[in-house]
Amino acid sequence: MPPIENAPPEAVAPLTRGLMLLRRLTDADGVLSLSELERTTGLARSTVDRITGTLARMGYVRLDGRDVFLAPRLMELGNAYLGALGIPGVLGGPADALADELDESVSLAVADGDGIRFVHQATRRRAMSLSFRIGDPLPAERTAPGALFAADWTAAEWEHWRARRAADPHDTGFPAAPADTGPHHDGPHHEGPDEAEFAARVARAAERGWALDDQFIEPGLVALALPVRDADGAVACVASVVSHTSRHSADSLREALLPRLRAATTAWEELLAREARETRERRRTPEAPPTHPAVGLADWTHASKQELGRGFVESLARGLTVLTAFGEGRAALPLSAVAEATGLARATARRALITLEHLGYVTVEGRLFRLTPRVLALGFPCLSRLPLPQIAAPHLAELSRRVHDSASLAVLAGHDVRYTARVATRRIMSVHITVGTRFPAHATSLGRVMLADLPPESRAAWLADIEPRALTPHTVTSGPELAAVLERVREQGYALVDEELEQGLRSIAAPVRDRTGAVVAAVNVAMHSSRRTVEECVGEVLPELRAAVARIEDDLRTAGRFARVPEV
Ligand code: PHB
Repeated sequence: MPPIENAPPEAVAPLTRGLMLLRRLTDADGVLSLSELERTTGLARSTVDRITGTLARMGYVRLDGRDVFLAPRLMELGNAYLGALGIPGVLGGPADALADELDESVSLAVADGDGIRFVHQATRRRAMSLSFRIGDPLPAERTAPGALFAADWTAAEWEHWRARRAADPHDTGFPAAPADTGPHHDGPHHEGPDEAEFAARVARAAERGWALDDQFIEPGLVALALPVRDADGAVACVASVVSHTSRHSADSLREALLPRLRAATTAWEELLAREARETRERRRTPEAPPTHPAVGLADWTHASKQELGRGFVESLARGLTVLTAFGEGRAALPLSAVAEATGLARATARRALITLEHLGYVTVEGRLFRLTPRVLALGFPCLSRLPLPQIAAPHLAELSRRVHDSASLAVLAGHDVRYTARVATRRIMSVHITVGTRFPAHATSLGRVMLADLPPESRAAWLADIEPRALTPHTVTSGPELAAVLERVREQGYALVDEELEQGLRSIAAPVRDRTGAVVAAVNVAMHSSRRTVEECVGEVLPELRAAVARIEDDLRTAGRFARVPEV
């Protein structure tokens, strides 16, 4: 087993190994086989098995055959950091609105050592070959925000930057950064800007209060960046408007948008100051109970140990749980608050914090611990782009396995439903259903649960707009009758459709709601009508269907807290 370099004596080795494994999975975009994990971590196979088993038990990874996938639940760690930071919560909406107004991408980034890390992305990119994700780190010297952050660097930070550049001239430590071959660089082996060039850019940025990226990170990408300062005048984050050379040169981007971006960041500084005032007010009112109560962590740990024995690495589970003590209104915590929120003994919480600090996931100032942007390196970039069908897929598979019938996910598309994920058992339809298949919404259980959720006026308008076709002798085609059916579906929270789409086919569906309560999709189970009576279908299948939907909604809530989950 490789020694853990320079680790303090209190460091918890299994926590260190678990974090290393999560980092390797993140750098591999969310999936590695067990043997690849063994190779890239240098850990023994038995150790990899126990760590992945423990992470799977926590819901942070999913094991599928020999492959290990990062799971959406892991985003609760990055959410803890982003919640504590407060910036995406306050400025995310305004940044999205600015991107809509300008029809250009807008991002928010924070400083992370000698790099930058994105904490929000409002992406509108047409001509880009890639776009960066929440949690992606980039080298400071190849971005516009980096020049603004470097304006505040101390001599020691410049020295750190020099050492990093010398040790990693090709930016391999920044997996999201494309190879440095932009038009300003003289060939594939050029090593970014030299120090004089970057220092001059930093000085200009400090003087002007804005910075440009003229294709430093990627050919074609131009960006204009302005700092957003907190009430104390420190740079809280940097806002960038990002465009493409097919639309703007770096200079024309500045000419066109500098005044608008300046007005926006000034308004955003006011929003941050107001939020800070309100947080202070709240603190003066009697301490509210922690928002993240330790709901039976001890019981859960005990049960996991019982079930998995040596395969459950308790110190890893406890150490990761420490990160979830932080969050909105809980940015800086003393040891006692961490112990209280997690239900861990002080000594256990302390050793975990020392380990996390050593590895750069936590900083300590006086008695207070804080999370660092590096927490986002635990899965956030790849998971923040996971579309709903992929989030749902393992839950559909589990549902199908439990009821021995096909399970599907679909969205509403005009007058139709469109399948976006499916796990099929036997074939019961005359037509073959695949992802992309469409059926008239009015005749399907999937369509009816989604239509039932529309506000009454939209539902009426939708019904007025269609001419319901009879697909079998049983299809309901009368407008008033369909309206009554949808009203009943709305009250029940599910739809059962019996031979209205195809003879011999029965299906039952429930809606999938996002964190705001809006219906974003539906899940159904389809079966041959001879398999169960209608009563059996409601009695046996509906509870399983609802449980699967609850698991999907749980993941969707975690994934959608600070990122926008793509629907397809
Ligand atoms: C971004 O993708 O948001 C981005 C990229 C490079 C920059 C600034 C922003 O210099």
